[in-house]
Amino acid sequence: MHLTKQEEHRLDGEYGWANQIAMKILTRLGDLFGATRLIPIQSAHVSGVSYKNIGDTAIDFLNEFASKGGRTQALTTLNPSSFDQEYLLKRYPKEFTVKQQRIIELYEKMLIKPTMTCTPYYLRKINAGQHLAWAESSAVVYANSILNAWTNREGAPSALAAAIVGKTPNYGVHQYENRQPNVLVTVETGLQTETDYGALGIHLGKLLKDKIPAFEGLHGSDDNLKQLGAAMAASGMTTLFHTRTPKKKYKLETMSIESRDIEEARSSLCTTDQTPNLILIGCPHCSTSEVKSVAQKLECKRVNKNTELWVCTSRHVKDRSVKYVDVIERAGGHVICDTCVIVSWIKNLGVHTLMTNSAKTAFYAPTLNEVEVKLAPQEQCIQVACASP
Ligand code: F3S
Repeated sequence: MHLTKQEEHRLDGEYGWANQIAMKILTRLGDLFGATRLIPIQSAHVSGVSYKNIGDTAIDFLNEFASKGGRTQALTTLNPSSFDQEYLLKRYPKEFTVKQQRIIELYEKMLIKPTMTCTPYYLRKINAGQHLAWAESSAVVYANSILNAWTNREGAPSALAAAIVGKTPNYGVHQYENRQPNVLVTVETGLQTETDYGALGIHLGKLLKDKIPAFEGLHGSDDNLKQLGAAMAASGMTTLFHTRTPKKKYKLETMSIESRDIEEARSSLCTTDQTPNLILIGCPHCSTSEVKSVAQKLECKRVNKNTELWVCTSRHVKDRSVKYVDVIERAGGHVICDTCVIVSWIKNLGVHTLMTNSAKTAFYAPTLNEVEVKLAPQEQCIQVACASP
């Protein structure tokens, strides 16, 4: 990979230890995947924030980076942590919360904004064609597919390295030719709800792995496509999908989706018939329209006392949705920022059964949270939340 003089100096350690390690990570990746050079990025998004997920070893690594000159050059945002400051902080043991605060402080020391959301694309406008270095698979798919920005699916170390150097190697979907579809997926059945899109995503992710699909017959809203992409990236390695059939004639493998495929995927994501004691809307974190839609369904209703309703979103979206947040909280729901159920210790809160409209959460929760799961659209989730015990 060709390096500029300045990049060579960084690699030789002239900018300090953290810069040298960051350059080593990027050049190693670039050499491995055939990049020819480093390209500037518009922003980085760093994962590896929740103490539940990363544990103590990662704290030592971040401490080394922060104390040995690791400072970001690119605008950098942060994925969710394991609790919020208002509702969950007091419900977890101090030994957990102190470690989590330490992780966030270390990222802040590196000049990373403590946004703690998996939807950085709601915080500021992302333009088509911008090069990014984002970790968080659901955000990567959204950026590439809905916003037509260009980012590989970074891991936590490579996103942090790119943030520090302000550049990323130009391989993978940073190259035009690697963004072209190689499978044509025809959706032969109508998709009615966000869980249909999520179930389709889980089904396809397993089959496609890292292939790039182009869809025929898919007409979802951005919120529904967000569910599709997040689920594909959870069960497979999807970084990008196309919602239109390509104009150019590519040699494409074909695949068709029938209602039976959606039904099978949906039932594979439901592990129980038990009544849930936690209902979650907001994986990936809710958009303003999703917060509004929850509020409209909760108008004049009350969440029953044996159930918790969490609506997870970013602080940015919460601040812009004050009147809807008010309706949700008056009904007994909790609008929670900075975290989500997957990266939080919900079992320690006594949760045994989780109901959600997110196929991604339904896919991960039985193993990562050790709880039973029910998958159902938002409307049904709210009905159950408000049903008499
Ligand atoms: Fe976001 Fe957590 Fe889902 S990080 S994509 S809400 S698993």
